[in-house]
Amino acid sequence: MHPSPPDPGWLAPLTGAQISDADFARLGAFIESVCGIQVAAGKKIMLEGRLRRRLRQLGLDNFSDYTNRVLAGGDEAEVRLMIDEISTNKTDFFRESHHFDYLTTQALPALLRESGGQRLVRIWSAACSSGEEPFTLAMVLSEAALVSPGLSFQILASDISTEMLSRARAATYDAVTVEPVPLALRQKYLLRRRDGTPQVRVVPTLRDRVRFRRLNLMDSDYALGPPLEAIFCRNVFIYFSRRLQSEILDRFVSNLVPGGYLFLGHSESINGFDVALTQVAPTVYCKVDVKRRRK
Ligand SMILES: C[S@@+](CC[C@H](N)C(=O)[O-])C[C@H]1O[C@@H](n2cnc3c(N)ncnc32)[C@H](O)[C@@H]1O
Repeated sequence: MHPSPPDPGWLAPLTGAQISDADFARLGAFIESVCGIQVAAGKKIMLEGRLRRRLRQLGLDNFSDYTNRVLAGGDEAEVRLMIDEISTNKTDFFRESHHFDYLTTQALPALLRESGGQRLVRIWSAACSSGEEPFTLAMVLSEAALVSPGLSFQILASDISTEMLSRARAATYDAVTVEPVPLALRQKYLLRRRDGTPQVRVVPTLRDRVRFRRLNLMDSDYALGPPLEAIFCRNVFIYFSRRLQSEILDRFVSNLVPGGYLFLGHSESINGFDVALTQVAPTVYCKVDVKRRRK
């Protein structure tokens, strides 16, 4: 019997392949070395589930071949696709909204006071996923600039995932995802699709305020330019080892202006780390101004 001809647009049957303990350990160590994400021992089924699609697309029927292929090196594209599959990208507009309240009612006024009411504020969304966090920042800062004309701002947004970055750059979302955005801001900063499809797109003026780039938080030098007024690094620290968290915190501190702010996710903290940051609100930290403390 001849094998049936390929059916265009359809993939090979679902594979029930399982990963051996040895390959799980090898792949887990490799993943942590590439992006810092720790794949805990109990996450084997999760890893299999997330990578089966890659196996199918590559026409492989076992994890051993996949592990060998990825670990052999030289296939940067596959490593990126694998990271896209294994990373958790959950995010929302106005997620943990107390951070945006703190930014507008405390941090921005303090930064403006310090510089006589005129200031360029540079903010980095350091694990921006599909863009909801930096676009929330862009809305909030645009509104703040209306009441403080001396305020101007730049937003840098980065992520390790190329897939998430291309979604973020598209700035197009299902209408249901923008429900947390206050109505007045939705009306001002989001466009509806002409054909009635329930999707919205961030207005061009706001899109222009956010610069996206790929950046791995494991990099030893983030090459961000002048120090920043605030860093949002939320809901990614939890996946990293304490050692990596400590290294990243040191890099954050050296990329902040004295008096600049770090915002972490709700289950993350700097407790136990020896860094020049002081807590100013739940999961909000301020870089200690050493010169001012010495006075
Ligand atoms: C759960 S999302 C958090 C999104 C957003 N910060 C929030 O709190 O809503 C975590 C993001 O971290 C990214 N990520 C994971 N490892 C990373 C790394 N080593 N460098 C940069 N981004 C990373 C993932 O791709 C994912 O988009």
